[in-house]
Amino acid sequence: MFEEYFSDNAKQMRSSEIREFFKLTEKPEVISFAGGFPSKDCLPIDQVQEVNKRLLLEAEEEMLQYSPTEGQEDLRKYIVDFMAQKGIDVGVDNILVTSGSQQGLDLVSKIFINPGDKVITESPSYVGGLGAIRNYRGDILSIKVDNKGLRLDLLEAELERLTNNGQQIKFIYLVADFNNPTGLSLAVERREKLVELAEKYEFLILEDDPYSKLKYDGPERPAIKNFDKQGRVIYLGSFSKIFIPGIRVGWVVAAEEVIQKLILAKQSTDLCSNSMGQRLIAACGREGIIDNQIKKLCRLYRRRRDKTMESLNKYFPPEVNWTEPEGGFYTWVELPPYLNSKDLLFKAIEQNVAYVSGEAFSSSGQKQNAFRLSFSQPTLEEIEEGIYRLSEVIKTELNSFEARNQRCIK
Ligand SMILES: Cc1ncc(COP(=O)(O)O)c(C=O)c1O
Repeated sequence: MFEEYFSDNAKQMRSSEIREFFKLTEKPEVISFAGGFPSKDCLPIDQVQEVNKRLLLEAEEEMLQYSPTEGQEDLRKYIVDFMAQKGIDVGVDNILVTSGSQQGLDLVSKIFINPGDKVITESPSYVGGLGAIRNYRGDILSIKVDNKGLRLDLLEAELERLTNNGQQIKFIYLVADFNNPTGLSLAVERREKLVELAEKYEFLILEDDPYSKLKYDGPERPAIKNFDKQGRVIYLGSFSKIFIPGIRVGWVVAAEEVIQKLILAKQSTDLCSNSMGQRLIAACGREGIIDNQIKKLCRLYRRRRDKTMESLNKYFPPEVNWTEPEGGFYTWVELPPYLNSKDLLFKAIEQNVAYVSGEAFSSSGQKQNAFRLSFSQPTLEEIEEGIYRLSEVIKTELNSFEARNQRCIK
């Protein structure tokens, strides 16, 4: 009955397969590689309890009251220092605190996208980023990645083609470090070159960076934002993966003019982000608790990443390929083109193991022979057992495909 009342924007909103799918994976017997959740084994419960209790005594009003739309001053100053550690020199007026970086994706889309505007994304790309762009009816053009991230040769060809047709893109959205879903990172030389292309073809870059601190081998790469001279890069950060997601605190770094517009957009969305969460993050940040948590998480996830790679090598058949992430939560598995990862998922669930099938990460429903494994949640034993179970499902499917083929040939 409501269909005729829904706006055009609402009519084309789609439910995320991932969110729907979580219901199936919630059974305790399922080993789930599905959710991009931080590990429950390493939540900083004691520190959060202690700091929260103290703050409620010391700064009761700031904890319980509304806070400024742009974010609490202390937290913005902490974020300025956090960015300075990455070599990114900005002031508090360049920072907007958001309710998770997902809100950053929504607000940026809200202020820049008119229906039909062209936005480029990686293929595959983060489902929540695609959703935000789609909700404002952006026209998504996707560009392939290789093991050094976005293919700039293809991007440049696309930009040339658009320019020749008198068209332009608004922005390019990408996750340069340990991409969700592929786990791949954009090579440093490509980051620099991408900024040059943005200057040449006059588009903006939306850099979504929840994972760069979770690097398990070698030093962090400079962000794309590090190469930005003209303020074309809008950077999104988040405390969800490096600290705790439940308090919903993220941030945007951008030119002041952009921040001012985002503040207006945020006012009609939620007035302000969670005041308690902001105080808590600022205090935990200043007291070194977040830095410590990052170190602990890196140790935990490095072991899980290693176990995942070891188990994939041990059990998966040679027809299957996967990425080798240097950080983050994910590896991307590619099956032979004749297998469909969604069909396979139902068989995997019967064996009590789950992942997210690839098409959720494609703007046009491609990537049907791929899937995302998230290694952040299962324990080492569960990783080995889960990958073993998956390998058996895949091998059975490969064998039955071969058997069908043999019958056809005969
Ligand atoms: C690439 C990417 N961007 C944004 C988000 C949203 O994170 P937040 O909890 O900060 O809203 C996620 C969460 O999985 C993500 O993987």
